[in-house]
Amino acid sequence: MIVLKTGRELAVMREACRISAGALQLIGKAIEPGVTTAELDRMAEEYIRSQGAVPNFKGYHGYPATACISINNEVIHGIPTKKRKINAGDIVSVDLGALFEGYHGDNAATFACGDISPEAQRLIDTTRESLYEGIKMARAGGRIGDISSAVQSYVEARGYSVVRDFVGHGVGTSLHEAPEVPNFGTAGRGVRLMPGMTLAIEPMVNAGNYDVKVMPDGWTVLTKDGSLSAHFEHTVAITSEGPQIMTKL
Ligand code: MF3
Ligand code: CO
Repeated sequence: MIVLKTGRELAVMREACRISAGALQLIGKAIEPGVTTAELDRMAEEYIRSQGAVPNFKGYHGYPATACISINNEVIHGIPTKKRKINAGDIVSVDLGALFEGYHGDNAATFACGDISPEAQRLIDTTRESLYEGIKMARAGGRIGDISSAVQSYVEARGYSVVRDFVGHGVGTSLHEAPEVPNFGTAGRGVRLMPGMTLAIEPMVNAGNYDVKVMPDGWTVLTKDGSLSAHFEHTVAITSEGPQIMTKL
């Protein structure tokens, strides 16, 4: 079932999204050579709780942390640990969200640690830009496939591939609700977009092939071919005035 949110609900959800975006920005600024992913995770959790919210990934299907931190060839769902240090030259995808007064925010970004290769920078830029291409299509009267196709065509025109096995989603009183928002598809197809829908749009882009595999820890998703991967996500509301990015500071 697709839940349309009222203006009052959107106002509360905007607060959850503001907290999610604040935590993501904080982690982005804290990324430097030698920091562990567990340290970053703790900063995110403390910030979210200091805002009167709760980290919404923690405990979700047994997920043990506040953030997913995925480095280089890791696509998503990397589990923070005390043993994992970030090195100069790494690209670091951070995904996290906050639950505030019953509503969820969800966002992600890929950050550079120190100087990274021009190839890695181009992958990051393309992935971020593809998210904005998708957001532009999040308009009442359009369809989910308009978003999917905009993301896919932008990414593939630049020689990269979009992950097929994981998709964006509706978000609201649940972290994941209908509809699914794939990063590949056909314009004009799929669910009709309506004011009050809130969507987490989240392209995951591989420098190589789109195939992925899951590590023995049961969570960390890697590119099968070992290529780099980037991930950006915003929670977006569809309004009569167009798309509104809720996880923007
Ligand atoms: N970050 C994912 C999303 O954007 C959800 C994370 S699953 C979790 O939809 F278990 F890690 F929380
Ligand atoms: Co999401």
